[in-house]
Amino acid sequence: MELKILENIEIAQNTFSLKIDNPNLFDALAGQFFMVRINGFNYPLLRRPFSIADFNENYIEIIYRVVGEGTKILTKKKAGEFIDILGPLGNGFSDIGTGKKIFLVGGGIGVAPLIYLKNVIESQYRLPYKAYFGFNFKEEIYVDFGEIATMDGSVGFNGNVVDLVEKELDENSIVFACGPTLMLKRLAYVCYDKNCKMQVSLESRMACGIGVCLGCVVETQDGYKKVCDNGPVFDYREIVWQAL
Ligand code: FES
Repeated sequence: MELKILENIEIAQNTFSLKIDNPNLFDALAGQFFMVRINGFNYPLLRRPFSIADFNENYIEIIYRVVGEGTKILTKKKAGEFIDILGPLGNGFSDIGTGKKIFLVGGGIGVAPLIYLKNVIESQYRLPYKAYFGFNFKEEIYVDFGEIATMDGSVGFNGNVVDLVEKELDENSIVFACGPTLMLKRLAYVCYDKNCKMQVSLESRMACGIGVCLGCVVETQDGYKKVCDNGPVFDYREIVWQAL
């Protein structure tokens, strides 16, 4: 589907917010993603997956970090141009209203889908929540709520976001998490320890996004599953973390 770009601006170091006109043809769950075709040429050949940072009747927002040729090309797109997107895809976060204590825990570009989840919690569920986000340094931060941890100590807690949130978690907690695999793995071990619930949105290199190429499989207790099709959101107890 070709949709009009409303805005494509840098909001933090190497981090862009892309707002696309929402024609109101579909709805999207927090945690779902879109496959975006970067351009009409042969290179980069494939679509890239981007999680939804906000979604309302006016626009769809994607927040992306510039990590390679494809995303560099994306930064050149201007308001008024059209972009080809496929989605929303994947399963999204669920059971949002079931936890006694809701936590959003994100790292780096993985914070983006938790911004949309926060908006959903506030507008649809009206439940209290706490948010903890980790970045490498101040210039990377693109979120304006939650407690911040930075690896260089330039803002907030000095160190890893998992160390920041760990003491808050207990068996009444439900955690919604997204971020680098190592961060999620550490958080999974903490959650096992504290016996809390957690849903993780896994980041994966996706070529097709629709369950065809098998490029995104992850090992689970139930065999290999496709991140794009069976996920990207999984119960953390499903994932074989030792394999990651
Ligand atoms: Fe192709 Fe998941 S990205 S099967």
